Amino acid sequence: ATSFTLHQLAYHPAAQQKVHEEIDAVLSKYNNKLCYDAVKEMTYLEWTFKEAMRMFPSLGFLIRECAKKFTFPEIDLTIDEGVVVMIPVQALHNDPKYFQNPDEFRPERFSPEEFQSVEKFVYLPFGAGPRACIGERLGQMQSLAGLAGVLARCEVAPGPSTLRVPRVHPASDIVQCIRGGLPLRFIPRTPKP
Ligand code: HEM
Repeated sequence: ATSFTLHQLAYHPAAQQKVHEEIDAVLSKYNNKLCYDAVKEMTYLEWTFKEAMRMFPSLGFLIRECAKKFTFPEIDLTIDEGVVVMIPVQALHNDPKYFQNPDEFRPERFSPEEFQSVEKFVYLPFGAGPRACIGERLGQMQSLAGLAGVLARCEVAPGPSTLRVPRVHPASDIVQCIRGGLPLRFIPRTPKP
């Protein structure tokens, strides 16, 4: 999730600049110490991470087993007890029915004003319901702290072998891997006086 966020920032310098400005401004308030309270204030970084997880969720699909026979009257579809159902998260997150211009990387989609209009149970990077990810808050906090730590010191840019649209490794299991990884250039930022 964090690698794909950096990958998108490498191709979106304007968004990267906003992230850098936010990190610099917040860290200067906290004596340049990356702490929990500082990360909580990095809202644009959070939208950026969420947008990257929309385009490329770590789990491309979720699995459930039908506990009780159920019919969807709208489409007259019955699912019997015991049937395994796959929820296609990658497809839902990239469906123009739910996210306008889904190929466009735009962190502002996750601003509270915009995100409130997104249909429920469509954005599922951590799943949903009683079997949703138990590590959601820790995972998100660790990821944002890691991103802030790297981006406070470096700019990211595409490297000679970076692919603009990376390909999922066909041997991926439930967690989606990328063929050849996500190579990037890390350019040290000039330290602030
Ligand atoms: C960015 C980081 C992470 C992502 C994207 C992620 C994503 C997910 C997803 C999509 C599921 C399946 C949910 C479902 O089927 O509805 C899941 C399940 C789970 N995750 Fe995470 N996760 C992350 C970090 C973590 C961390 C840090 C922990 C533990 C400290 C964790 C522990 C678990 C466990 C135990 C389950 C199984 C829950 C169950 O079946 O009841 N995850 N995670």
